[in-house]
Amino acid sequence: MSSGPEPTKDSDLSRRGFLSGLIFGLGGVITAVLGGAGTAYFLAPAFKKEAENWVDLGPVSAVKPGMPAKLEFVERKRDAWVTAERRSFAWVQTSNGRDFTAFDPRCTHLGCPYRWDSGKGQFLCPCHTAVFDVNGKVVSGPAPRGLDRFPIKVVGGRLMIRPQPEKVKA
Ligand code: FES
Repeated sequence: MSSGPEPTKDSDLSRRGFLSGLIFGLGGVITAVLGGAGTAYFLAPAFKKEAENWVDLGPVSAVKPGMPAKLEFVERKRDAWVTAERRSFAWVQTSNGRDFTAFDPRCTHLGCPYRWDSGKGQFLCPCHTAVFDVNGKVVSGPAPRGLDRFPIKVVGGRLMIRPQPEKVKA
């Protein structure tokens, strides 16, 4: 005994067509979502901003007022998927224990490393005898401008710099 009308071939075909379209449509959506997420994951490092690149120099107590300190750091540079490490240092000085200045360790004449002479209270460059005062200003010699500076801030009692120096005016 039949319980109702038998489905026609046409309605059978249109149901199959609908289900096929639904499966292909869902497959397309899944491919787009997974493909987009995967592409974003692999491309994200290439667009990461260097502006987030602050490095830790250590506690503020490492720098005594009037006595510049040579503080070492490791800079990590990311180029897409490759991270390179570079060891360097900054000269950091403060006059009051609250405001700090971080100098690029390269002389602004031709890039030689200079040093702090505590007896004279000056930075001395051995290459061509440039002399800078404790604030990085040129005292004498061929340097065309004062010492370049790293942006610096204090976070939780620690000195943080961005290791891209900024030029100062002569
Ligand atoms: Fe320092 Fe020339 S590089 S004085």
